[in-house]
Amino acid sequence: MKHFNHITDFSLEEIQATLQRTRDFKLNRTNTPKTLEQQSWGLLFYKSSTRTRVSFEVGIQELGANAIVLNSQNTQIGRGESIKDTAIVLSRYLHGLVIRAYDHSVITEFAKHASMPIVNGLTDFNHPCQVLTDIYSILERIDPENVQLSTIQNKKITFFGDTASNMANSWIIAAAHIGFDLVLAGPKGYEPTTQVLEKLKAENLTPRHTFTNDPNEAASQADVINTDVWVSMGDEAQSKERKEALADFQVNEALVTQANKDFLFLHCLPAHIGEEVTEAVIEGTNSIVYDQAENRLHTQKAILAQLQLS
Ligand code: CP
Ligand code: NVA
Repeated sequence: MKHFNHITDFSLEEIQATLQRTRDFKLNRTNTPKTLEQQSWGLLFYKSSTRTRVSFEVGIQELGANAIVLNSQNTQIGRGESIKDTAIVLSRYLHGLVIRAYDHSVITEFAKHASMPIVNGLTDFNHPCQVLTDIYSILERIDPENVQLSTIQNKKITFFGDTASNMANSWIIAAAHIGFDLVLAGPKGYEPTTQVLEKLKAENLTPRHTFTNDPNEAASQADVINTDVWVSMGDEAQSKERKEALADFQVNEALVTQANKDFLFLHCLPAHIGEEVTEAVIEGTNSIVYDQAENRLHTQKAILAQLQLS
């Protein structure tokens, strides 16, 4: 039995199969194979969510299963029941569990004690379903007939802003696993963390990212420009200092003129217009943010189907 906690939990062959299945599911949405028929899946949220919660709930139903939405506060977790007992007990009812948590150790602890697949729906450390969706969304835009992982291997992918965040970590791990060049641009104090470098080491992966304090250097001839909020869930107390520190890394019209003409703009959403991105960029013709949001549904269905094969 397999979990999906990091993109590295899938081999490159499994990622390619998942991308292909994503395309098939997207083209034939009304004809989804009922891979999870007669199953019940839980969705356990410790944090807010719009896309992840709804796309998983709909996707699980389209795969033929029943989806049960839980949150940490209205279960006994909120009154201190251990993750171990919760994981063991929920495994007696459910066939799988998607979790969104603050501390990443919540997911690893669930995975340690559960006898059902655990899927990471975002932690403070990473967001693997999002990055896999983002890769699909890039490949789909380049060649919808042929979503080949190798296509991304010669692209310049960039990320602007909080490069110590869960989305930056997800891109850093994906770049090393899949093998593409990633340039991260952010201010001093927001560099990639030692925690993500340790993860690469633990997986025996060679880093494929570089970090710069110069946003123009990063944007130059970029194929993909990515950003994310400056204040992630859980960072609200540092809101003021983060907005000041990250101000020079806004993705705006001046910055994107340095990218390749047909660059793609990505943002996992929710966006804070006027902070990490301007309205002109997010509403511009190079922006694929709403395709990304839609593709969460198709990609996650493909991830769940892939987990059934393991
Ligand atoms: N991108 C993303 O995970 O969105 P939600 O927080 O709305 O789930
Ligand atoms: N970095 C953001 C991603 C939201 C989907 C956060 O953690 O709040």
